[in-house]
Amino acid sequence: MLEPKNPNRRKLLLRLVQGFSITGLGFLAYPFFKVLMPGLSEDGFLEIDYQDLAIGEWKSVSWLGRTVIIFKRGVGWTKAVGSSVLKDPLSKTSVQPKFAENAERSHRDDVFVFYSNCTHLGCEVAIHPEQSAAPIQCPCHQSRFDGAGRVFAEAVASRNLEVPFYRPIAANAIRLERVTPSDGIG
Ligand code: FES
Repeated sequence: MLEPKNPNRRKLLLRLVQGFSITGLGFLAYPFFKVLMPGLSEDGFLEIDYQDLAIGEWKSVSWLGRTVIIFKRGVGWTKAVGSSVLKDPLSKTSVQPKFAENAERSHRDDVFVFYSNCTHLGCEVAIHPEQSAAPIQCPCHQSRFDGAGRVFAEAVASRNLEVPFYRPIAANAIRLERVTPSDGIG
């Protein structure tokens, strides 16, 4: 049997071919990735237009491996219950950016943006707009949340629903942004 004349050269060629194959696969997969997450840029943000939402409606997007819900709530829904029936009415012990450390937990009164995972064991919460005092509820162990994702005192979930970092970019559009803890989350 003939031995390769230069085994090192052969290995180098093999590595080059493997490298080109992986790069090529990346280029092929990129368009599919863009279709799945149309607003996600290379800079780590996702823009969402919600002008089509009426009061009581919502839309979901996939963001950094989790689901984020943009919920058009009625003005005043967050005042439907007294703070005495909520565990953390001012969100002192809950997770949200600095701009959401208030009773509305949002940039504006009529829109609430939040991660869909219940803070008890992570089930996906459901929205019940017909119940304006408790429009967000967890189907697993029945924790209830008000229109700002604030958990009711009797619930097994201990914290309010988490709020992601985002900025308003138009009258009815936001941009979710990838941030670090020093940017004001938590
Ligand atoms: S996971 Fe939501 S109440 Fe238990």
